[in-house]
Amino acid sequence: MTKTYGATQALRGVSFEVPRGQVVGFLGPNGAGKSTTMKILAGFVTPTTGTARVNGLDVREDPVASRRMLGYLPENNPLYEEMMVRDFLDFVAEVRGIPKPLRAGRLRGAVERCGLASVLGKDIHQLSKGYRQRVGLAQAILHDPDLLILDEPTTGLDPNQIVEIRSLIKELGREKTVILSTHILSEVQSTCDRVLIINDGRLVADDTPERLGKGEGGTVTVVLTSRAGAGLQEAVVSEQLGRVAGVTGVEGAEAEGGGTLGFRLRYGAEDIRRELFEAAVRHDWCLLEVKRQHVSLEETFRKLTGGEGPREMSAPPPSLAA
Ligand SMILES: Nc1ncnc2c1ncn2[C@@H]1O[C@H](COP(=O)(O)OP(=O)(O)OP(=O)(O)O)[C@@H](O)[C@H]1O
Ligand SMILES: [Mg+2]
Repeated sequence: MTKTYGATQALRGVSFEVPRGQVVGFLGPNGAGKSTTMKILAGFVTPTTGTARVNGLDVREDPVASRRMLGYLPENNPLYEEMMVRDFLDFVAEVRGIPKPLRAGRLRGAVERCGLASVLGKDIHQLSKGYRQRVGLAQAILHDPDLLILDEPTTGLDPNQIVEIRSLIKELGREKTVILSTHILSEVQSTCDRVLIINDGRLVADDTPERLGKGEGGTVTVVLTSRAGAGLQEAVVSEQLGRVAGVTGVEGAEAEGGGTLGFRLRYGAEDIRRELFEAAVRHDWCLLEVKRQHVSLEETFRKLTGGEGPREMSAPPPSLAA
């Protein structure tokens, strides 16, 4: 799909397929095109070129049928503030065309799932952000859709609420296909089977969170000492470590005292721990600590999206208001 808003090319050609049951994280910096993609999938925005299909149905040609199969939580979760939670969900059930005899049951199911029983009689404007988000999720699952499209479901929540909503999404993901956008990379790691990274209207990555965080190697921290008890010379050991196959860089790191030496080794694609062990045998070192750290998903994200960090990582903008 492509999407142009006036002079802005929001999507420059985005194409992907999500099999049933998958939980997909949609990542990208501000303005990358996440919400645009999700709005198109949900049938709220028309693509300039291309098509979106849900269960084989073109969302433009069959808007009613395709919307019945998907639940959508829009960015910023717009709700009818003055309505009571119960009335709002009733209203949504009616609008979605859930047959009257089924309504009460569906409502009960969604309320139970989202933990809304205690606030059914409250007006929406009285709710905390976390509860508002639960209402947003409840309206999205009310008609029991196969596919959930959730645009930044945890934005603005406190850490406790994030954990709650995340586990709710995880639970929903057991039986539904979920596409969720987020700026929180740990969220993707804990909830998603697959990550799509979008930057400037184009997909720049499509992989599992594990593989995206792994591809580029990482570092191995080592603490070692001489097995024979003889003193080790840091410069000599450093040079010997640099010759271990797969090592691309060596720098000093914290040791433990008592004649120990610490190093941080960089490696590319290959795991160097085996070679490291063999080098230790050769040089008669005793390895006291070997700790590998993969390149994180965060680093991959920064690299693929031109260095702009996700919101959770970057410093908050200086406040303009006095
Ligand atoms: N209705 C609109 N009219 C004009 N431009 C728009 C409109 N909606 C989005 N855009 C532009 O399209 C681009 C993609 O926006 P989109 O909202 O899809 O980004 P996003 O990835 O969801 O960003 P964010 O992380 O900030 O939510 C941006 O440049 C945005 O300014
Ligand atoms: Mg958005």
